[in-house]
Amino acid sequence: MNYDIKDPSLAQQGKLRIEWAGRDMPVLKKIRARVARTKPLKGVRMSCCLHVTTETANLMLVLKAAGADVVLCASNPLSTQDDTAAALVREYNIPVFAIKGEDTTTYYEHIAQALAHFPQITMDDGADLVSALQFIATKNFKAIPKPVKRWYDSLSPQKAHKLVKEVIGSSEETTTGVIRLKAMEREGILQFPVIAVNEALTKHLFDNRYGTGQSTIDGILRATNRLFAGSNVVVCGYGWCGRGVATRARGMGANVIITEVNPLRALEAVMDGYRVMPLKEAVADGDIFITVTGDINIIDTRHFLQMKDGAIVCNSGHFNVEINLRGLETITTRRRSIRPFVEEYTLKNGRHIYVLGEGRLINLAAAEGHPACVMDMSFANQALCAIYLKQNARNLERKVYDVPREIDEEIARLKLESMGIKIDKLTREQRNYLASWEIGT
Ligand code: ADE
Repeated sequence: MNYDIKDPSLAQQGKLRIEWAGRDMPVLKKIRARVARTKPLKGVRMSCCLHVTTETANLMLVLKAAGADVVLCASNPLSTQDDTAAALVREYNIPVFAIKGEDTTTYYEHIAQALAHFPQITMDDGADLVSALQFIATKNFKAIPKPVKRWYDSLSPQKAHKLVKEVIGSSEETTTGVIRLKAMEREGILQFPVIAVNEALTKHLFDNRYGTGQSTIDGILRATNRLFAGSNVVVCGYGWCGRGVATRARGMGANVIITEVNPLRALEAVMDGYRVMPLKEAVADGDIFITVTGDINIIDTRHFLQMKDGAIVCNSGHFNVEINLRGLETITTRRRSIRPFVEEYTLKNGRHIYVLGEGRLINLAAAEGHPACVMDMSFANQALCAIYLKQNARNLERKVYDVPREIDEEIARLKLESMGIKIDKLTREQRNYLASWEIGT
């Protein structure tokens, strides 16, 4: 079996952690029991480009139980849990290509190795794997990351031709990936149907809000051990992730400031009780800055110069583009690593800025990502969408689709059931009332 991981001897520790996460993933467990009998993905080659965590490992076990021939590579250079990767390889015979802290070249070599599986279904978190496929399909050779291009060039013409043709569909986990895929759809270059798992209510309402909310704070605390109570925390972006982060920061006693560009979200933040202002006004006040916008250069060179001495800056958006680190370098006189995931920048004005986790998602760089309880629903969506793609791909167009409503509702039902929570049902009279327009009073 081909794989590339840090240290196979970490497998035993990884297995225990995978089991621990599995205890909090009851929906996936139910799906696993079902698909182990019916094998809906029998023989389907799948390449998954996801954060290599204990929760992802549990998803891999479901796909394997469903009969899929699955390989996994990292969707971020800094999010891999090396013991999890080792356990997947050693204990569960699933090929993994991922090493925590890998450089960009290795990161893309690993994506190339996942492509070398000639997947029929792909699963992405951030759309890096699918983007590589799109560049290949549209012969946009300049845009293909070099390590992927090198691998692609080594293929025979017949094999190269087969690569994109084999793919029947794909699914995408996160907001940023969905934005990229919708841009491909708009340009008419999408090569196969994609399901936007992020758009499921059982995904973003829970994973983005409660998952990012808690794990972002967890990452900051593990990296810095700073007290939130009484700190001024600036949250850039009030999407589902921003709402989650702000709620949790406030719950810990921080004074939270929100920055936004969308008037509706800004208004919501105001009515949720936060101070809302442009970043240029917030910079001088902030002790801790957290970006969760999905866009580039949110915290830019000019902002750093206005910050307090000792300000902490981190990102929990998908890509490491939200904090302009190149710009920061240009105004820095000294840079040193202070403790794991904390880099000190001494600015030319003499102040110090602390950047966490190289500006990569701090919840996965310095902590363990979202807790299993929420990934249970996100990954239940992934598993059921893979099966849906296998069964329906022929009837789907080259578009970005939402998760079918039935799948979303089934997952919510299974989650409630696993919590032992029952809910009411409409009476016939109530159903009729909702279905009619004649009854006014
Ligand atoms: N994204 C955020 N948290 C995650 C986790 N624990 N596992 C996989 N992907 C994640």
